[in-house]
Amino acid sequence: MRGRTGWSALSKYRVQGGQRLSGEIQIGGAKNACLAILPAVVLSDEVCRIGNIPNISDALLSLDILEALGANIRRVDRSTVDIDPRPIHTHIVPHELARHMRASYYFLGALLGRFGEARVSMPGGCNFGVRPIDQHLKGFTKLGATVPAVIENGMIDASAPQLIGNSIYFDVVSVGATINVMLAAVKARGITILENSAKEPHVVDVANFLNSMGADIRGAGTDIIKICGVPHLHGAEYSIIPDQIEAGTYMACAVATRGDLWMRGVIPKHLESISAKFQEMGAVITEDDDAIRVQMEGPIHACNLKTMPHPGFPTDMQPQASALLACADGTSIVTENVWDNRFRYVDELIRMGAHATVDGKVAVFHGVPFLTGAPVRAVDLRAGAAMMIAALSAHGQTEIEDIQHIERGYENFVEKLHGVGADICRIDLPDGTISRRA
Ligand code: EPZ
Repeated sequence: MRGRTGWSALSKYRVQGGQRLSGEIQIGGAKNACLAILPAVVLSDEVCRIGNIPNISDALLSLDILEALGANIRRVDRSTVDIDPRPIHTHIVPHELARHMRASYYFLGALLGRFGEARVSMPGGCNFGVRPIDQHLKGFTKLGATVPAVIENGMIDASAPQLIGNSIYFDVVSVGATINVMLAAVKARGITILENSAKEPHVVDVANFLNSMGADIRGAGTDIIKICGVPHLHGAEYSIIPDQIEAGTYMACAVATRGDLWMRGVIPKHLESISAKFQEMGAVITEDDDAIRVQMEGPIHACNLKTMPHPGFPTDMQPQASALLACADGTSIVTENVWDNRFRYVDELIRMGAHATVDGKVAVFHGVPFLTGAPVRAVDLRAGAAMMIAALSAHGQTEIEDIQHIERGYENFVEKLHGVGADICRIDLPDGTISRRA
């Protein structure tokens, strides 16, 4: 039994700030593509080989869910598995697994598409404001499914004797709803049109994977997606795209430490908005076919930042960029347009000496010359990454607790940073053992 990575709520990272990072970091598979592609295998009538799976706890949890449903999983190498979905015998996702991860909801669309029914716990995951799934349920209903008007006992039940293609206009641009309804629609009878769809690279990656299995999906990456239902999906061999947010996070580490880092195995086009913002801060960005270099020296220039759905600046890079602006040469205004409350990490930055205020969806950072090390917490996944960025450039030692949030989405975080010069280690409590590997 695989089980999740060796993370523990009692472990922490210890960082001595001030080391300039330089060298190369290999970027792993995209978490937010992987967490949809693994459930999508449920729809296949044959074995699928999925490659470039990141070594993160959320991916391992998704594999545990597939195994609990009855799928046979054979590990090919450290990032590749063969999944045989044919033995799957139930449409009910075990609560004790689903409740740990918001992306468990993708099993709703996949199981509905295969069995005509699905039962999944209400999503867990990062806590930054209300995270509804009304658009997911609206889409399923438009395809002919019966979904609960009121969610009872924390479970979502959806059923449809036959899913019928339909036109669906999303009230808000939603990555999850776009993908989840796509999963339910690929084997529905007739044509489905999704309008006001999300355009993130991971939405396109899921569509490409489904098409590699014989689905008929056009327009992914635009705001109108057309899906012609097909009766069967065959097996496929597919490699997940590189993680734009992991790459962006290490780009920010280079800026923070005035370093010189190459991120290998990326798609530079997926990083355009991130590169543009870091250039505005003063970084020198060099692109290669599948790599990107970030060089930084001198002050970080203050600038304003607004998060938007793709191709705008991604919300999942907002905390990391803010950690840089906390030490910029002036005042910066950060506007979070996607989530209601994604500034909980600012209090942790203030503990390190940041001068910042938060008012609803807007945070104002008055740059300080440097931050100082302190004991801080990772309040969620990307907030934890922001604390690491702050710690790498801070004067003195920082200890980051609640690192289980970070290890949900960053593979080998300590090892990758240590490999480019960070003075960092992971302390596993309560016995206090110290290691370099995440
Ligand atoms: C995905 O979450 C990502 N998670 C998030 O990344 C990311 O922040 C988000 O997309 C936006 O890019 C995964 O892919 C597993 P949404 P998701 O539906 O799908 C509202 C990370 O750090 N909304 O695009 O849950 C919602 O409240 C994580 O990797 C509704 O109102 O996000 C939000 O304001 C954190 N009704 C906005 O839409 C719905 O039914 C965007 O949410 C669904 C969403």
